[in-house]
Amino acid sequence: MRAAVFDRFGPPDVLYIADRPDPKPAPGEIRVRVRAAGVQPFDVGVRRGEMTRLPVSFPQTIGQEYSGVVDLLGEGTGDTGLAVGDPVLGSTMLNGNAELLCVPVLNVVPKPDRLDFPTAAALVAASQTASGALRELGVGEGDVLLVHAAAGSVGTVAVQLARLAGATVIGTASPSNHGYLRELGATPITYGESLVDAVRALTVKPTVALDAAGGEAIAQSVALGITPDRIGTIVDDAAAAKWGTRVVRAGRDPRRLSEVVNLAARGAVTMPVRAYPLSEVAAAHAAVESRHGRGKVVLIVEP
Ligand SMILES: NC(=O)c1ccc[n+]([C@@H]2O[C@H](COP(=O)([O-])OP(=O)(O)OC[C@H]3O[C@@H](n4cnc5c(N)ncnc54)[C@H](OP(=O)(O)O)[C@@H]3O)[C@@H](O)[C@H]2O)c1
Repeated sequence: MRAAVFDRFGPPDVLYIADRPDPKPAPGEIRVRVRAAGVQPFDVGVRRGEMTRLPVSFPQTIGQEYSGVVDLLGEGTGDTGLAVGDPVLGSTMLNGNAELLCVPVLNVVPKPDRLDFPTAAALVAASQTASGALRELGVGEGDVLLVHAAAGSVGTVAVQLARLAGATVIGTASPSNHGYLRELGATPITYGESLVDAVRALTVKPTVALDAAGGEAIAQSVALGITPDRIGTIVDDAAAAKWGTRVVRAGRDPRRLSEVVNLAARGAVTMPVRAYPLSEVAAAHAAVESRHGRGKVVLIVEP
């Protein structure tokens, strides 16, 4: 099978496509023929050597999210209701950007037919992070949620889930993404020095904030008078400690992923996809590393 690999930490062009042995599922695992695979800031950190706790060994494969079709059932997975040929998606660990991968069957979520493979892969990490973060922050009816980096992958899901929960949403983005945020149902605000004054000029006052941007986002949320225990970051632990605000870990949870996937299949949640063929994995990494753009970068793995 073909897989994206790298032999040393470095810039996007350390990534290349290599032929690797087909993986064999261990007991409790299934093998998936991948159709699409997400690329996220975490992968950029892996490639740059910043994820020091991960068991990296060169040549190293990469990728944390996939959609595809069940290809082989490992021992002990026959009674799970999954069959060869079923469309699935889910989280994985350092092996998603490949034609084949093996994953524990318990982590797998069925893919509804109405959701295409690229969109399904695009939802994996962002959905689990956004839904977990909103739950930890208790976002609901009557809240006014400020989402920092609202046009990115986590922000895109967070804005829509918060709207569905009955909250009013203010989202930060560059002006080129303001129309996009309006389509999602958020009031757009440009990030940077003018942010606090621009939010204060609105008729609504934020009651809760989700920081998916870092930088000044927490300080600005505090300046806007949001209670520290209702300011959560998925990016900036140091600023959270400094300001006495929260770090929301929002771990992986296939049930939460399934909930968002089913909303997406009904058209209640959308995710724009910026697609690259697997062979252009380096360009896909460069796009994520730029930290700009809307929605999600996804690799397409041709059958
Ligand atoms: N993906 C996950 O599941 C996950 C999980 C845990 C933690 N995180 C962390 O959360 C952060 C966001 O992840 P993501 O996947 O949503 O990233 P992403 O999709 O790459 O986010 C890119 C977005 O960030 C916006 N942005 C860039 N600089 C900004 C600033 N100074 N203020 C506000 N917005 C800014 C950009 O808006 P414009 O294009 O309009 O400039 C762009 O839409 C990353 O730091 C990531 O490591 C992500």
